[in-house]
Amino acid sequence: MKIMAGNSNLPLARSIAAYLELPLTDASVRRFADEEIFVEIHENVRGEDMFLLQSTSYPANDNLMELLICIDALRRASAKRITAVVPYMGYARQDRKSGSRTPISAKLVANLITQAGANRVLSVDLHAGQIQGFFDIPTDNLFAAPVMAADIQARYNEADLTVVSPDVGGVVRARALAKRLANAPLAIVDKRRERAGESEVMNIIGDVKDRACILIDDIVDSGGTLCNAAQALLDQGAKSVAAYITHGVLSGGAVARVNSSALTELVITDTILATDAAQDSTRIRTLTIAPLIGEAVRRISDESSVSSLFD
Ligand code: R5P
Repeated sequence: MKIMAGNSNLPLARSIAAYLELPLTDASVRRFADEEIFVEIHENVRGEDMFLLQSTSYPANDNLMELLICIDALRRASAKRITAVVPYMGYARQDRKSGSRTPISAKLVANLITQAGANRVLSVDLHAGQIQGFFDIPTDNLFAAPVMAADIQARYNEADLTVVSPDVGGVVRARALAKRLANAPLAIVDKRRERAGESEVMNIIGDVKDRACILIDDIVDSGGTLCNAAQALLDQGAKSVAAYITHGVLSGGAVARVNSSALTELVITDTILATDAAQDSTRIRTLTIAPLIGEAVRRISDESSVSSLFD
């Protein structure tokens, strides 16, 4: 097996390669003067089981195009099997027609990755599990929950914890984390979004009075969902609110919003390379997901069970 990386998150790629005790494949992924992407693989990959690491995070379109062109280069270089390892799958939130005459971009992206020549996909906390079905190739969806649960157990008294989903759609994810935390009680924020990009908290379902609340979600983008939920929980008598979110998209003024929010801490993973602002924030901490992805890559290559990683 060989590991190759696009440019979206080289520190994560290096950590995964280190876990597997492998070098990154010697390749250059660069730009022509007009910003077209050019990929050149400088070593033989014929007959290799290739794992290509690239999150399609900001700038989403450039990183997606890089992913597709790298897959094409590997396919034309006669790699035996190509696994697109996409820790953060951009466009995943566009997974249904949100209105008349709108696209399902998550399906289009799945088609593009497949048509480019990927044989498998490996991702982390896909926005919706059903996105696996958008691919007609095997797709493994890893969960950050074990990494988060270990961190929470090291820092909190489990008896004080309530796990909170910031919206109704996240209840399954929240329940899975609660199960790992001695079956902590659950609460749900009933969120209504009036306009795209804005969020409004309506009600808290469940008892959060005097509880240490852990908000869990797959994505923090503008930070609106999270910061509003944190304030609503405190208004209902919560003792403290921290958030564990897999993908720190953190666009626009999100870091400033988190810094001035009621959250004691926002914990993200390194599926997306943190911006300087996020790295400088004393309110934001990053957990690495590299050993989890590295172990899944090893098991895919060995053809052993990936799901047993989560037993
Ligand atoms: C929505 O369904 C997602 O799970 C996140 O809650 C959402 O993407 C977060 O967005 P924002 O941080 O912009 O409120």
